Amino acid sequence: MNIPAAVRHTSLKKWVAAMADQMQPDEVYWCDGSQEEYDRMCQLLVDAGTFIKLDPEKRPNSFLARSDPSDVARVEDRTFICSLSEQDAGPTNNWMHPRQMKETLKPLFNGAMKGRTMYVIPFSMGPLGSPIAQIGVQVTDSPYVVVNMKIMTRMGTAVYDVLGKKGPFIPCVHTVGAPLEPGEKDVAWPCNPDVKYIVHYPEERAIWSYGSGYGGNALLGKKCLALRIASNMARDEGWLAEHMLIMGVEEPNGTKTYIGAAFPSACGKTNFAMIEPPKSFAKKGWKVTTVGDDIAWIKPGDDGKLYAINPEAGYFGVAPGTSRKTNPSAVESIRANCIFTNVALTDDGDVWWEGMDGDPPAHAIDWRGNDWTPDSDSPAAHPNARFTAPAAQNPVIDDKWEDPKGVPIKAFVFGGRRSNTIPLTFQAFNWAYGVYLAATMGSETTAAAFGKRGIVRRDPFAMLPFAGYHMGDYFNHWLSFGRKIQNPPRMFVVNWFRRDADGNFVWPGFGENMRILEWIVNRAQGRAMAVESPIGWMPRYQDLNWEGIEGFSEADFRTAMSVDRDDWDKELLQHDELFIKLYDRIPKEMLAIKDLTLSAMWRTPDHWELRYDPT
Ligand code: GTP
Ligand code: SPV
Ligand code: MN
Repeated sequence: MNIPAAVRHTSLKKWVAAMADQMQPDEVYWCDGSQEEYDRMCQLLVDAGTFIKLDPEKRPNSFLARSDPSDVARVEDRTFICSLSEQDAGPTNNWMHPRQMKETLKPLFNGAMKGRTMYVIPFSMGPLGSPIAQIGVQVTDSPYVVVNMKIMTRMGTAVYDVLGKKGPFIPCVHTVGAPLEPGEKDVAWPCNPDVKYIVHYPEERAIWSYGSGYGGNALLGKKCLALRIASNMARDEGWLAEHMLIMGVEEPNGTKTYIGAAFPSACGKTNFAMIEPPKSFAKKGWKVTTVGDDIAWIKPGDDGKLYAINPEAGYFGVAPGTSRKTNPSAVESIRANCIFTNVALTDDGDVWWEGMDGDPPAHAIDWRGNDWTPDSDSPAAHPNARFTAPAAQNPVIDDKWEDPKGVPIKAFVFGGRRSNTIPLTFQAFNWAYGVYLAATMGSETTAAAFGKRGIVRRDPFAMLPFAGYHMGDYFNHWLSFGRKIQNPPRMFVVNWFRRDADGNFVWPGFGENMRILEWIVNRAQGRAMAVESPIGWMPRYQDLNWEGIEGFSEADFRTAMSVDRDDWDKELLQHDELFIKLYDRIPKEMLAIKDLTLSAMWRTPDHWELRYDPT
C-alpha cells in the first residue's frame, strides 16, 4: 500500500489497512483530490463504459452515467439506524442491534472488493477547518463515487493536514457489493441488485453501505454523514443538522436576511435556493443568493444568533423539470464540468430530460440506453435523474457561502407538497408552535416517483428518512434548542402545491414565490403586515406585493390561503396518528398545541377568511 506522505494519522492508516484486509481489493489508491486525478478517473470511467463523454462544445468536460435500473434512488427500506437500544432509533427508523448487524454484514463485506481498486477519499463536510465542519474518510470501490465526491465535498490532501496525527474523522465504508472473479468482465454500473444495506452506528459514528452506487446510498458524506450521523452529534453537542436549503435575501436598501428552508426530497429546495425574483423585484434591487440547496448545519454563536453552513460543495439536483423558466441559475450551474446520471442522451451528444426548454428531441437514447422518441410510453429521463454540479458555478452563489463562521439565520421555512388544506403561507405564533408545524408537516407522494398521487406521508421537518435517532427526541431537541437562544428565528409554513377543484396548481410558484419570500423577510425583520388566524399569522391580499403578476387574482389568493375547518379536523386527526406512533417520547408541548389549535379552529367563525382588519 502506497501511503502518501501527507497521511500522518496512525489510526487512519490502521483502519484503511483493516478495510483492505477485509474487503480484499486488488489495489488501494489514496485520492489526492486534484483536477488531474479527477480527469484521469473520468477517463477511466469512459474506458469502462460507465461514463459517456458529452459533446465538448455543448457540455464541456461533462459526462453521462446510466445506472443499473435496479439502482436509481435511495433505498429507505434498506436503511438502518443501529443504535444499541431499539428505543433510541425510534419507530420511524429500521433498526437492528449493532452486534447482529455486524454479523450480518461481515460475510457480505468479506472479499467484497475482489478484482477492484479500493479508493480512499478524505473529505471535509463544510469549509476546511471551519469550527462547524466535520471530516470523513470514505473507502469505496466505485470510481463513479470518487468523482462525485470530488464535486460534492471538499476532498483531497489538505484534509490530512486538518486531521494531523490524531484528529477525529467519521469512517465511511462503501462497496457496490459486486466482487469480480479473476478474468470476469465488469459491467457499466456494478451494484448488487439483490442485497443492499445502508447502515449507521450512531454511537460509534460509523457508516457501512453495501450494494448500491447511487446518490445518498453511496455518496456517504451527504445523507449518511451530514444528516443521520450529524443529527446525533448535533443532539449531543447542542446544534442542528437539517435537510434545509440556506438562502440570502437582499432588500433594495441592502438589508440582508438569511433563511433556512426545509422541504422534503424533490419538493423544490434547489428551485427555491436559486429563485430568480420577478422582473419587478429585480428592477428595484432585490437579490436572492444561494448558500446551500439541501443540507444545513446550524450552531448558536457567542452573540446569541444562529449560524448556518452548507456542509456540501456541490449540488446533486433533480434534473427533470429543470429549465430556464423554472430555474435559470441551475441551468447556468450545469453548463459544464458536471456529471449527469440517468438523463437522456441526444443525438448531438448533449443531455435532455422532461421539462427542459424547447421541443423534445425527435430521437434520443433514454436513461436505460434504449431508443426514445416523443411517442415512447416511458419518460426519456428517470424521474430521479440527477446532475452533480460544483456549487461555485452557481451564478447567484452567496459571497459568504464558504465563510467558516456561517451565516446568521433569521427565519425557518417549512413546506410540503399538499394539494389541499395547507394555505400558501402563514407564520407560527412562536417557536414551540413552529416546532409543532414542522413536526406535523406532510407531503404528498408524486405520481412520477411513487405511484398513486395524493397519499399524504408525514415528513417531520423533511427529516423522516434522515433523523438518525428517535423522532420524539428530535422534536424535544428542537424545543430545548429554541429555549436557549436569545432571539430565535421566526418560523413559517409555505405550500406551493395547492390545487383547485380541476386539479390545477392554484399558485404559479417558482419565481413568483419571491412575493411570499418578501413577506417572510418583512415578518422576520419585525415589520407588521399580517392578521391572526386560528393557525397562525397570515398575510392579507394587500400585505403582499403583486406588481407585475399575471393571471393571479385576489380570488385566487383567497383560494390559495383558505383554511377549511373540515379539512383541518382531518389534518389534526392525522397529527394524532403521528403522535401515537411516537407516544413514548413525544414532547407534551406537541399534544397541548394540538388541542389549542383545535379549539382555536372551532372558536373561529365558519370557514376562516382573510377579511379582518387588525386595526
Ligand atoms: P432533494 O434534492 O431530493 O432533496 O430535493 P429538492 O427539494 O432540492 O427538490 P427539487 O428542487 O429538485 O424539486 C423539484 C420538484 O419541485 C419539481 O417537480 C419541480 O417542478 C417542483 N417545484 C419546485 N418549485 C416549485 C413551485 O414553486 N411550484 C410547483 N408547483 N412546483 C415546484
Ligand atoms: C434526497 O433524496 O433528499 C436527495 C437525493 O437529496 S440523495 O442524495 O440521493 O439522497
Ligand atoms: Mn435532499
